[in-house]
Amino acid sequence: MDTYNSYIAGLQKKKNAFIIEMEEYAEQENVPIMDSSSIETFLGLLSIQKPSTVLEIGSAIGYSAIRMAQSLPDATITTIERDAERYEKAVDYIQASGLGDQIQIIEADALNMDIERLSEESFDALFIDAAKGQYKRFFEKYSPKVKSGGVIYCDNMFMHGMVLQDNVDLHRRKRSMIRNLKEFTIWIMSHPDFNTSLLPVGDGILIAIKKEL
Ligand SMILES: C[S@@+](CC[C@H](N)C(=O)[O-])C[C@H]1O[C@@H](n2cnc3c(N)ncnc32)[C@H](O)[C@@H]1O
Repeated sequence: MDTYNSYIAGLQKKKNAFIIEMEEYAEQENVPIMDSSSIETFLGLLSIQKPSTVLEIGSAIGYSAIRMAQSLPDATITTIERDAERYEKAVDYIQASGLGDQIQIIEADALNMDIERLSEESFDALFIDAAKGQYKRFFEKYSPKVKSGGVIYCDNMFMHGMVLQDNVDLHRRKRSMIRNLKEFTIWIMSHPDFNTSLLPVGDGILIAIKKEL
């Protein structure tokens, strides 16, 4: 997979200096942001879906929120981050990007946050990219805010290959996270209210389309 990802990365258009600066900062400071093939595929899917409103769980330094806002100029992005330092950095980057009118960032733990703090009543798309062991809880809390026909996207569904490893080979700290992630994957793939696919792109992108009931 890495070979194909590198091949694809070599074919992608040149990014602007601001985006490269963010990627370099993330690399230096060990901030996990979407990898190149995942973000490009994700932006491609969004440009097909054309959401007007996107809710993101897990902003980190605002990289994916800024990329979404750049590629969907008519959309508004609401993004939630619980880490104070990353939140501050994201605020700075969003301001510097000139996309502050399009992006609203909330500093909160998305699992404890009062849902009333969201300025939109409902969203066309939800992007879950936060604690991997909590995906089911994020999904259960925020998917009701997604419109019928809307899409829920989740990144890192393969957790860098760990979902294929034997439990015994995993560090104890990682075991329950991977177990939760796999349970969530099984649950959502067969959920009757969503049409779900798992794309073997980047670190695994899940797409769940909310059925019109
Ligand atoms: C993989 S990073 C997000 C990367 C970002 N989406 C990007 O590609 O630019 C995950 C982020 O989720 C945040 N996070 C984890 N659990 C969270 C929670 N319960 N509420 C809000 N943020 C959370 C972490 O602090 C971390 O910054």
